[in-house]
Amino acid sequence: MQTIIEKIQKLKREKNAVILAHCYQNVEIDEVADFVGDSLYLSQKAVSTNADIIVFAGVFFMAQTAKILNPSKKVLLPRKESGCLMADMINYEQLMEFKSKHPDIPAVCYINSTAEVKSECDICCTSSNAVKIVKSLDVPEVLFLPDTYLGKWVEKQINNTKVTTYPGYCPTHLRIKAEDVLDAREKYPKAKILAHPECHRSVTDLADFVGSTAEIMKYAAESSDKLFVIATEKGVVDRLKRDYKDKEFVLIKDNIICPNMKWHTLDDIYNALVYEQHEITVDKNIAQKALKCIDRMLEVSKG
Ligand code: 13P
Ligand code: SF4
Repeated sequence: MQTIIEKIQKLKREKNAVILAHCYQNVEIDEVADFVGDSLYLSQKAVSTNADIIVFAGVFFMAQTAKILNPSKKVLLPRKESGCLMADMINYEQLMEFKSKHPDIPAVCYINSTAEVKSECDICCTSSNAVKIVKSLDVPEVLFLPDTYLGKWVEKQINNTKVTTYPGYCPTHLRIKAEDVLDAREKYPKAKILAHPECHRSVTDLADFVGSTAEIMKYAAESSDKLFVIATEKGVVDRLKRDYKDKEFVLIKDNIICPNMKWHTLDDIYNALVYEQHEITVDKNIAQKALKCIDRMLEVSKG
């Protein structure tokens, strides 16, 4: 009898499908994924794929971005409940109100946002290229949305650009407190503490390294240190433990889990391929405008 993994691999071949998986996914998803990584890496892979079907094991905005980049391909989100709470904190009307309070200032949107929001922003960014993107604009002030913590972290790295942020945040990352970092320092004095820039400023200020999910994994892989405390979603720790058995990784506190990222199971991915569900569609006019914002980011990221 074929295993679920074999069945998925067979369907992928038959339907010329590719599976993109974010590194916060349940770790067994990697067994069938063609590419696993952070949001920038996955959007780059979405551009370069020759597949007819893209199954996105991630949250809604990631699948929607893949669709905008590949209008002629079928993009599937195995569980339609997989939204991003941060992306849902700003809609089109809220964006227009925010922009109207700060006229003529370029708007940078985090990729964790809807197509409608992207369609009215000047450029998009991810956590791994946000500093580069804001610098590339070379202006004294930018608007940054929806994540206030990523925006303020970027401002601190750049110095000469004012970053005016929208008050959005990631509920999962905000569960990590400065006290957790201080406790970890006391308990693991030899550990390096690695944090995602969606964390509260008081956490990133105390961390040894701040970076996107892929940057955290790269840092841990390349470091000569042996013990790491990880201040981001549990999926990163699960992958580091699997891949670097000679090192030790500790999640900064229990249950730093993004519930929306954890919806997809192997069964859901199998069903997505069999029934070609749940297909992502984007209004053509919105998609064309959002594409400019995403393409501009991909162009700056290349350089
Ligand atoms: P990355 O850009 O690091 O993949 O982060 C996406 C995200 O949603 C983190 O919460
Ligand atoms: Fe959104 Fe936070 Fe989940 Fe990332 S971890 S997908 S920002 S809710």
